[in-house]
Amino acid sequence: MAKGFTLWFTGLSGSGKSTLANAVAQELRAQGRLLDILDGDVVRQHLSKGLGFSKEDRDTNIRRIGFVAHLITRHGGVAITAAISPYRNIRDENRKLIGDFVEVYAKCPLEECEKRDVKGLYKKAREAVAAGKGMQFTGIDDPYEEPANAEIVVDTSTCTVQDGVKMILDKLHALGYLEEGAQASADHRAHHEYVPEELLKKAEAALKKAGKVHTDVLLKELHVGFTTAAHLIDRLAEQGKVSLK
Ligand code: ADX
Repeated sequence: MAKGFTLWFTGLSGSGKSTLANAVAQELRAQGRLLDILDGDVVRQHLSKGLGFSKEDRDTNIRRIGFVAHLITRHGGVAITAAISPYRNIRDENRKLIGDFVEVYAKCPLEECEKRDVKGLYKKAREAVAAGKGMQFTGIDDPYEEPANAEIVVDTSTCTVQDGVKMILDKLHALGYLEEGAQASADHRAHHEYVPEELLKKAEAALKKAGKVHTDVLLKELHVGFTTAAHLIDRLAEQGKVSLK
């Protein structure tokens, strides 16, 4: 069975955590992984209902999310969390508890998050501060501690969702969380779906070495199935790396 892991997103409100989490989830589900998303906004409607945004309440929220992620992970599942999780030490506490923990920092300048202001909360927070009340809003009048050693940093102000997903999947692959079998299951995958960069490179090298562009070469050299071999050749041809003529 594939090894379970937790993909822990952290970042400011509006930095793109949920968008990335959902896009990665789609790819992992296509690989047949059992998966759940623990999104801060959603968790706060049930598991953490009634909690506010004091340091104490945020810590409780993040510990609860960490505990559930731990259960999912130890049963071989994939837990994807998307909460601001502003405090480094609580994230690290979860890292220790869970073990198979991959931290993704959705990095986006405050000005950009504020410009997006998807939920209108930055505006509210600025107004609350101006009125002398404040609202303990992360990045405005409440702290956000950047990760010091995140496995992956996705700069969401400059890269596309697709680029971010690819970075994350490549890292998961390099860390050994995506089984080789997941590549073989590329047999069922639609044309646009993910192929590890490394596998494409191997395919390109094998075809060049053999001096011919034929699925037989990949069946023999890469031990992939026919459909995957054909898919790899299609992909390389699209990128102009091999010629089908
Ligand atoms: S965390 O700090 O405990 O990790 P969490 O991700 O669950 O936060 O919830 C953050 C979401 O709650 C934000 O995306 C935003 O929609 C909403 N929210 C409401 N008030 C605040 C606040 N004071 N600070 C941050 N987010 C807030």
